[in-house]
Order: sequence, then C-alpha cells, then structure tokens
Amino acid sequence: MRRRYIDLINQSFYFPQEGFEVKDGYLYFHDVPLHDIIQQYGTPLRLTYLPKIGAQIRKAKRWFENAMDSINYQGDYIYCYCTKSSHFSFVLNEALDNDVHIETSSAADIDLAWRLYKNKKIDQQTYIICNGFKTAEYAQKISQLINEEFTRTIPVLDNMQELDFYEQYVQAPTCNVGIRIAASEEPRFEFYTSRLGIRYSDIMPFYKEKLREHPKFRLRMLHFFISTGVKDSEFYWAELNKALTIYCELRKICPTLTCLNIGGGFPYRDSLEHAYEYEYMISEIVQQVKAVCDSAGVPHPDIFTEFGSFTVAESGAMIYSVLGEKQQNDNEVWYLIDSSLITTVPDCWGIGQRFIVLPINNWEREYQRINIGGITCDSQDYYNSEVHRNEVYLPKINGKEPLYIGFFHVGAYQESLSGFGGLKHCLLPSPKFVLLDIDDEGKLTHQLFAPAQSHEQMLDLLGY
Ligand SMILES: Cc1ncc(COP(=O)(O)O)c(C=O)c1O
Repeated sequence: MRRRYIDLINQSFYFPQEGFEVKDGYLYFHDVPLHDIIQQYGTPLRLTYLPKIGAQIRKAKRWFENAMDSINYQGDYIYCYCTKSSHFSFVLNEALDNDVHIETSSAADIDLAWRLYKNKKIDQQTYIICNGFKTAEYAQKISQLINEEFTRTIPVLDNMQELDFYEQYVQAPTCNVGIRIAASEEPRFEFYTSRLGIRYSDIMPFYKEKLREHPKFRLRMLHFFISTGVKDSEFYWAELNKALTIYCELRKICPTLTCLNIGGGFPYRDSLEHAYEYEYMISEIVQQVKAVCDSAGVPHPDIFTEFGSFTVAESGAMIYSVLGEKQQNDNEVWYLIDSSLITTVPDCWGIGQRFIVLPINNWEREYQRINIGGITCDSQDYYNSEVHRNEVYLPKINGKEPLYIGFFHVGAYQESLSGFGGLKHCLLPSPKFVLLDIDDEGKLTHQLFAPAQSHEQMLDLLGY
C-alpha cells in the first residue's frame, strides 16, 4: 500500500479539483504557485485571490438566470453582496465590478456605502438592503440615503417599532420598506424562533394597521432567512413554503410588494468532498416560488439573495509553517504552527467551523494523523477534524524542508471576527473604555482610557 500524502488525496477525492492542483509535489491554488509566494513573503500569511469573487457571482447569476428562463419565471434575480462577510475595499470593488447590489448590517456600513458612492462604485440606483436591529444612528443614516434620493434603499424592519424612526427621519415623499420574517430555528437549536425579524402572526395585522394606508411607506420586500442556511432539508422547504404563503397573502392586498429576499446561507466548499448541488437548489427554489405564486394567483416576485460566504469565502487562504512536532502519547502527534487558529481562523474555535486544510509542499512524503496546534497558551487553540472525517492527515516532517500548510476558503468573516487591525464583526465599533479605581482616600475615581472607535478608523483599516 502506498503511504504518500498525494496517494491519500487521490484515493479519497476527485483530485485535482476547482482551485486545487499539485505539480511536482507543490500545491497550486487557482494556478498560483503558493510555495513561491511563501518564499517571497514568509508565513503566517493571509491571501485573497480576487478573481474568485467575481467568478462566484457570475456563477450564481447564471444559475438563477437558467432556472428562471427554463420555467418562464416572470420576475428578476437581484444579487446583493452581504458586506459583513468581508468589508474590505478590494472585496467590495471586485464584487461591485460584477454588477451586484449590497446588504448592510450597521451604521458604519452606511458610511461605507457613502464611500462607495463617492468612489463611483455604487449609484442611487443600487439596491441597499438594510438589515439588522436598527439603532437610532443606523436608522438616521438609512433615512439620509432615502432623503438623498437613493430610492432603492430598503430598510428591512426587524421589529414593528423601527417604523417610528423612518416616520421621524425620512422627509422624502415615499419610503420603501421590507419586513423580515422571524423564521423558525432548526429543531436542534436552543430557540424555537429567531430573535431577528417580526413574528408571523404579527405581520399581517402590522401591515394593515401601520403600512397599508400610510401616505409615505410602501411595503416592497418580504425577507426570509434561516440561520442554518439554504439546505436540501425538509425543514428548509417547509419554512420556505410558510414564507411564500405569507408573501402571497400579503401580495393580494399589497400591490407594491414585489420583492422576495431569501437572504444568505448559500454554502461555500468547506471540504474536498463537498457535494452540494448548487444548480439543483436554485432551480428548486425558483420552481417553488413560481408554483406557490401561480396557485395563489399572484405575480412572481423579484428574488433577492444576500450571499456572503458564498461570494467571498473561497477567495481566501491562511498559510502557516509547521514549527515543530510533539508526540504527547502513543497516539497523539501535534504539529505546532507559527500562529494561532483562534486569532486567524476564529470560526474553527468559536463555532467548530471546518475549512479545507492541505499541505503546500511535501506531497510526495508519507502521511500521518496529526493534531494542529496554535502557539497561544490556550488549550482550545487546535484543529483536528474535517467535514468528511474526524481526523486530519498531513505529510510527515523530514527536518530538511519546512512543512507549510494552508487553511483554504477562509475569506468570509474571519478577519472581522479575529479583529484584523482592530476591525469588528458587523463593523460595530470598540466601546469606550473607562478605568475605575479607589484612590488613597478611599474614593472612587474614573477616567477614560480610550474613546469609542470611530467609523473613520474602521474604514481606514478596510482600505477606503
Ligand atoms: C440577514 C442576513 N443576510 C445574509 C447573511 C449572509 O449569510 P452567509 O454569509 O451565510 O451567506 C447573513 C448572515 O448572518 C444575514 O444575517
């Protein structure tokens, strides 16, 4: 039996496969010779391969277009990029060059939208779908966009009180709004219903009471998103059907309702064995929407998506050197890397996320089962299982050539969660920091150690 790492991969997967190829024992990522890049920059090293972002967008658009054309679907497909998955200017520029719209999650995101507008990356015709729980600041900034004739800015109401903000701040004669459905959570989750959105039973009475006769507001969009993502499961199809039923009920009495937003949660490839049937899922979704609308006798809605991970995850890689090997008992071998998994791919530690892990070199060497450990002193700083098996294998170390390993498809969320340069998830700024002490006379003292982080600081970090 052959024990070379390259044989293990060839026997376990279809390989080479999209984005991954081995030549002379070295891994190429989208034809990029990673070993050469490592020789130039050293490790640890974070990479983004920009062309992959546009390729993902074009793929999804094509799938929707094909699915819609094949059944004579009457609505359009609108691709929005969920900015919180990666706010970097180079990511937004690449996405917007592929003709997408955007979805925002916080007040700083609206400042980001203004930067994009000033850089001529978006215009007043760009859909800006504003999700999340609205603070007064966020609602005010959204209203300012609407007042400045960004007519396709759609605040998606997370709760019924949110409308009061737009009542107060929007001076424009009309204001499009959406309603986010508080979807059920999967049965294994700790909660029955998402904390995000408005509960099903409140939607119709709220529309009739607050929106239907209102001179300013137009209900334009119904938003449906299941936190566990777009999956071919009974749960997903049942929830989609529930959402479509309420869409149709509303549509019958609300002629301005023309948009159905099915959110994000379209998966990225997190394993070489990834068998998700993307085209089938899109075609099923489009067919379901059409079937339910046809039987209710309402026009087909424009379908919006807010794909974050799908857009950007597969463009990213994190490369480490293996600094050394430790055998801690008869079975457990550790490879210690020159960084920390907690601080560079925090989803592994926080939510048990898996990524594609591959060596960059030494593919011709024998392999062994290992645990990957970070060099923090935190016992949780490790990685030792993949999606397809509860084990990780890598080539043996020979003491001559250092072993380099890559975590691939890490392009979504990891930078903001790990605080790259001081960034935060959803661009929520660091809070102000006050120090409390007791002085020599026993009296409480306090002083500001640091003010709150500003939006400008974050936008600088992101390259705007
Ligand atoms: C409202 C909304 N839209 C889109 C997304 C993007 O999800 P994903 O990155 O899984 O596509 C999220 C993620 O939490 C979300 O909350």
